[in-house]
Amino acid sequence: MSRVYNFSAGPAVLPEEVLKQAAAEMLDYNGCGMSINEMSHRSKTFDQVIQTAEQDIRDLMNIPDNYKVLFLQGGASQQFAAVPMNLMQNKKAAYIVTGQWAKKAMAEAKKYGEAIEVASSADKTFSYIPDCSDLAIPEDADYVYICENNTIYGTKFKKLPNTKGHILVSDVSSCFLSEPVNVNDYGVIYGGVQKNVGPAGLVISIIREDLIRDDVPDFVPTMLKWKTQADNGSLYNTPNCWAIYMCGLVFKWLKEQGGLTEMKKRNEEKAAILYDFLDNSKMFKGTVRAEDRSLMNVPFITDSEDLNAKFIAEATANGLVSLKGHRSVGGMRASIYNAMPKEGVQKLVDFMESFEKANS
Ligand SMILES: Cc1ncc(COP(=O)(O)O)c(C=O)c1O
Repeated sequence: MSRVYNFSAGPAVLPEEVLKQAAAEMLDYNGCGMSINEMSHRSKTFDQVIQTAEQDIRDLMNIPDNYKVLFLQGGASQQFAAVPMNLMQNKKAAYIVTGQWAKKAMAEAKKYGEAIEVASSADKTFSYIPDCSDLAIPEDADYVYICENNTIYGTKFKKLPNTKGHILVSDVSSCFLSEPVNVNDYGVIYGGVQKNVGPAGLVISIIREDLIRDDVPDFVPTMLKWKTQADNGSLYNTPNCWAIYMCGLVFKWLKEQGGLTEMKKRNEEKAAILYDFLDNSKMFKGTVRAEDRSLMNVPFITDSEDLNAKFIAEATANGLVSLKGHRSVGGMRASIYNAMPKEGVQKLVDFMESFEKANS
């Protein structure tokens, strides 16, 4: 077996211990004589899997009792629609546009009401987070929306916006469980799990109870009504059992590692190795304003397309894979999620150093 260092933005690297445990349990989960993929989602065994997963994420994020944790399908993109459908009572919301994902979420919201762009960093290719301390948020806006970590551009909100008393909705897909958060600061936190938490096809939405309403418009599909999902413990229909099980294993792994405080420490250490190198390199440059840099997604470039391509090809040959930047940015991007070991980042930097020497 030969594992590579996988810098994919998502689906992405998972902890090796978790993959090994899932492999060991594939034919016989916990003495059941069958895989988790083969059993009823209404079985006692699966009930324990989902209940334990919920308790573990509650422990990890310190989620208060007045928030529901929903395990949903359709990925983060489906929540782009579910958010306005469930929250737009005044049919008005404020969007802070810091990249493609926030833009897509806003476009979706426009189908259901007025989605107003109150700040944007589009003027500089989303390479920074705009000042959100005093935005013109309409009084009657139902919520303020952010994408907290911008997977494509490598920026992160280090300080949450001043919502002026409005509910904050945050897409945390690419920074989920990477550091402690204060759940009380949010009305809704949601993330596709395929970056930092588990396999694709599951989105976890953490929603303050009073925002889970019955009086949503009639056109809202039953499945997209949060109340349906909350009333049925995320089991209104057959859920993504496999992904819930895998996330549960990752939650246990995170607890064993020391929880989110320890993850933040490790993620800061890993990111510093890469950013320090980028700040001192003459060939490679980071693309993001220093104070807004993400700990999870690190885009970088050289000044030549040919050199970028050569770097990606040689890195791949050296077991450092999925470093190609997003098609809308070009260059390179290293995603260094929780499960990327420090040695992986160090190996990448060592390789960048030798590549720079050989090609200068
Ligand atoms: C920040 C962010 N939001 C949303 C999405 C879309 O997620 P999904 O593919 O689960 O719909 C992605 C990436 O895929 C993302 O990085």
